[in-house]
Amino acid sequence: MTRVALITGGASGIGRRAVKAFADAGYAVAAADISRGGVAQSVDGLAGKHLACAADISDETQVASLFETVERDLGPVAVLLNFAGIMVTPGVGQRPSIISSELADWERTFAVNTRGTFLCLREMMRHRTRKPVAYSRIINISSSAAQLGGHNGSAAYIASKGAILSLTKIAAREAAPLGLTVNCIAPGVIETPLLRSVMPPEADEAYCKNIPLARIGSPDDITAAALFLASPQAGYITGSCIDVNGGIRMQ
Ligand SMILES: NC(=O)c1ccc[n+]([C@@H]2O[C@H](COP(=O)([O-])OP(=O)(O)OC[C@H]3O[C@@H](n4cnc5c(N)ncnc54)[C@H](O)[C@@H]3O)[C@@H](O)[C@H]2O)c1
Repeated sequence: MTRVALITGGASGIGRRAVKAFADAGYAVAAADISRGGVAQSVDGLAGKHLACAADISDETQVASLFETVERDLGPVAVLLNFAGIMVTPGVGQRPSIISSELADWERTFAVNTRGTFLCLREMMRHRTRKPVAYSRIINISSSAAQLGGHNGSAAYIASKGAILSLTKIAAREAAPLGLTVNCIAPGVIETPLLRSVMPPEADEAYCKNIPLARIGSPDDITAAALFLASPQAGYITGSCIDVNGGIRMQ
């Protein structure tokens, strides 16, 4: 039976690349994003049956109906990729200090990055409790910024991504009896619109001097790790975080 992958943030950057990679790997993909036009473009032209779903992952009701729609139209979700995320910045190359941060930006960042990940993960666990799927998977996305206190991100972004590291561990414990593994990927700097909202291309050369592999990562680098975590071969990995960062942070 075709395995179903639900990918949030599927309209852009890493999520859009994952939509294509999982479709090419034979999954039936549901691409979900707040951008209706963006997800429609992501699935356009892909071979096979896929879905484009407009949903705001920070909204409890929308997350519940997203899962209902996907499971009705494609079947039970085998792999949930929680890739949607935001970073609020005053402008390219600028980050707000803690003392200049607005509470509204903190709340919005946590609503999408942390609450959104929690809501999708909880919905997946509820559905797989009712109807288990063999070697089912949840793959969250944190950031090397959360591990390093990264200099480009705001405090809200870094703390929201730190929460995802911890959420991954407790979810892995609770989901284990379902045969559902929960892991996380912590990307370094990856070439996407989100990166370019905080880092201008002129900064790349200096930044890459601090990366042992001396390049900005690509969405393919993250997708490769996600495909591995989704595979049966990754069945004994849970509660872990895979660093995909060119060596900028080594544990
Ligand atoms: N690009 C990087 O360098 C980098 C590094 C570390 C972590 N990440 C993480 O990777 C993930 C993907 O980031 P990206 O760089 O591809 O960014 P991106 O901005 O290209 O894509 C993020 C997607 O999330 C969607 N989204 C935002 N709010 C949403 C909501 N409320 N509901 C549904 N969808 C929503 C956006 O519309 C967009 O399509 C994010 O969680 C980000 O924090 C990125």
